[in-house]
Amino acid sequence: MSGPFHTALCERLGCRYPVVQTAMGWVADARLTAATCNAGGFGFLAGATIEAGSVDTVINDVKARTERPFGVNFHMFQPNAEEVLEAVIRHRVAAVSYGRGPDAKTIGRLKDAGIVCMPTVGALKHAVKAVELGADIITIQGGEGGGHTGAVPTTILLPQVVDAVDVPVVAAGGFSDGRGLVAALAWGAAGIAMGTRFLLTEESPVPLSALDRYLTTREPSVIKVSTAVDGLPQRFIENSELLRLERMGLPARLAMSARSARQWGKEAGIGPLGMAKLGLKVLRGGDNSFAQTVMAPNLPTLVQRGVVAGDPDRGLLPSGQVAAVIDELESCADLIARIMREAEDRLEALTGKETD
Ligand SMILES: Cc1cc2nc3c(=O)[nH]c(=O)nc-3n(C[C@H](O)[C@H](O)[C@H](O)COP(=O)(O)O)c2cc1C
Repeated sequence: MSGPFHTALCERLGCRYPVVQTAMGWVADARLTAATCNAGGFGFLAGATIEAGSVDTVINDVKARTERPFGVNFHMFQPNAEEVLEAVIRHRVAAVSYGRGPDAKTIGRLKDAGIVCMPTVGALKHAVKAVELGADIITIQGGEGGGHTGAVPTTILLPQVVDAVDVPVVAAGGFSDGRGLVAALAWGAAGIAMGTRFLLTEESPVPLSALDRYLTTREPSVIKVSTAVDGLPQRFIENSELLRLERMGLPARLAMSARSARQWGKEAGIGPLGMAKLGLKVLRGGDNSFAQTVMAPNLPTLVQRGVVAGDPDRGLLPSGQVAAVIDELESCADLIARIMREAEDRLEALTGKETD
């Protein structure tokens, strides 16, 4: 395949189109990942929220659903990080995505196994550092993106990083259509990556009760950044639970977090000592404050209540601002076909030439 849409990203990842489905905790499951890959995109499985002991099973589930290459996301601070690392190497998955965390030795281990290392960054200095550590491709996530997010918008971060690094750069944060793909390529990106748009597909595991809240949110400003949940900036659709957390004082939030930690530890089979060790690992490994570390257990409980149990009022709904311009579910195949059709039309309108 050739043409303007066959980019370095397609070459490195082995996908047909330069469109990536990013990992989303509890959302990017085997079905969504495989559906993306079968539609010609590249899907990342959310490995950070796979239960300990189940990583092999879930990777095998993706393999049973697609013959196309796919990726796995992981977090160095998850209790079963080593299990994920061993599994991705054993299964020779095409790529891994991650945030800050893995050191050069871990990245070297993955690269030695032929796995493309593709971290997501929210600031220029993190992009430069990630390349120094061995990243093969950088995904930038502009501040309008969903989940944990930075303060720099895509329109500024993307050209900054394209100019600063010598590896392919993928643009994330605010994308949903073919215009966005052409714009990102024009900026020098090798493709786009989308979270929220893939959350709003027919293959998404999120219950309709929660999807409906995403689809009916029309105002970008109510999809806002809050630090009230785990102390780090994260974008959510504003709802009664988020407002309640924001009104709570720090002591009340920490008490709530202690309850969440006990519950989470019980479910993950980790006792109080194990939880303390995990907290220390997080504190030592990053630049999280003590409050951030102890508030972190709030996140899984409340996000699962939103996107797994489907309670749009008592749970939390992580989202990019792009949800405000999405009003219908599409299958992954229809979504990617539409994006590519729109991108071709846009490019033809700009150049006056037909694309091949
Ligand atoms: C519901 C949800 C869950 C997310 N969970 C994760 C995660 O577990 N790991 C991660 O690296 N990024 C996570 N993200 C961020 C996405 O992978 C992606 O970078 C972001 O959604 C891109 O911006 P967009 O939503 O505008 O497309 C999440 C995003 C959403 C909306």
